[in-house]
Amino acid sequence: MDIRKVVVIGGGTMGNGITHVNAAAGLNVSLIDLNESVLERAIATITKNLDRMLSKQKITEEEKNATLARISTGTDLESAVKDADLVIEAVNENFGLKKKIFTLLDEKAPKHCILASNTSSISITKLAGVTSRPASVIGMHFFNPVPVMKLVEIVKGLETSQEVYAAIESLTHKLGKVPVPVNDSPGFVSNRVLMPMINEAIFCVYEGVGKPEDVDEVMKLGMAHPMGPLRLADFIGLDVCLDILNVLYDGFRDPKYRPCPLLVQMVDAGKLGDKTGGGFYQKG
Ligand code: CAA
Repeated sequence: MDIRKVVVIGGGTMGNGITHVNAAAGLNVSLIDLNESVLERAIATITKNLDRMLSKQKITEEEKNATLARISTGTDLESAVKDADLVIEAVNENFGLKKKIFTLLDEKAPKHCILASNTSSISITKLAGVTSRPASVIGMHFFNPVPVMKLVEIVKGLETSQEVYAAIESLTHKLGKVPVPVNDSPGFVSNRVLMPMINEAIFCVYEGVGKPEDVDEVMKLGMAHPMGPLRLADFIGLDVCLDILNVLYDGFRDPKYRPCPLLVQMVDAGKLGDKTGGGFYQKG
């Protein structure tokens, strides 16, 4: 299965990173978002990240320009997907929104087109269930910052075909990343392991065991994590962490996944981390 044209839906942090790495690997990418200003910001971010790589002599000026030339942007999803080989959806973690998008993709994208989601928590089997082509639906879970992080967690839904898995595995190698296959289950592997650690770090603060910077220092210096769990929670977004913990809690019905009350309170207060200028730490 030859993947040449990719459509990425959603120009936020993950969508622009996914667009960047696909275009850098030689694929033509259409980045689609309803909001023109999000698209402008996405291109500015990709350009900034390419400039950083250029200044570190990781890429040449020609490679930078060729990468940017392979990216087109637009707000018209229907016409963009008409000749797509792969669509990667990277919108907010809202099942209703994703359901609408996958229903439309199923109608408008060519029959051979693979429908992937970058979801970090929503069931791939459930998304596949809103389409008439569940064998062609798969999870492609990238990590932030996408140009840096090596992993793509490839999530196989109940009916994902081996042929589709093999095509996505091979594309992931082409992107310079490492594919790791997992089966569809709440939080997959990444967030089933990561989120309880972040939640436990928040409990340490909530119960007065340690201050955020001390909890983080323990994990950075003692366990060689590049960021402490609370700094990472701010980076990911506290609302995203809470959503994922709720998916784990609801999915397994096991109290070990109950979100810390402090996390719930911070989200209620609108302290969502880096994107709102503050969470466990002030930003900017
Ligand atoms: N885009 C492109 N390159 C970037 C970048 C970005 N947004 N941010 C940093 N970089 C590059 C830098 O240019 C630098 O490159 P060189 O090594 O070539 O010099 C490298 O990354 C390291 O950056 P810095 O020196 O500026 O800073 P750092 O050493 O502190 O690293 C970090 C920054 C890579 C983010 C590191 O702290 C890290 O790995 N943190 C953990 C990130 C993580 O766990 N991400 C996963 C989050 S979970 C998720 O995304 C999915 C989910 O479902 C919730």
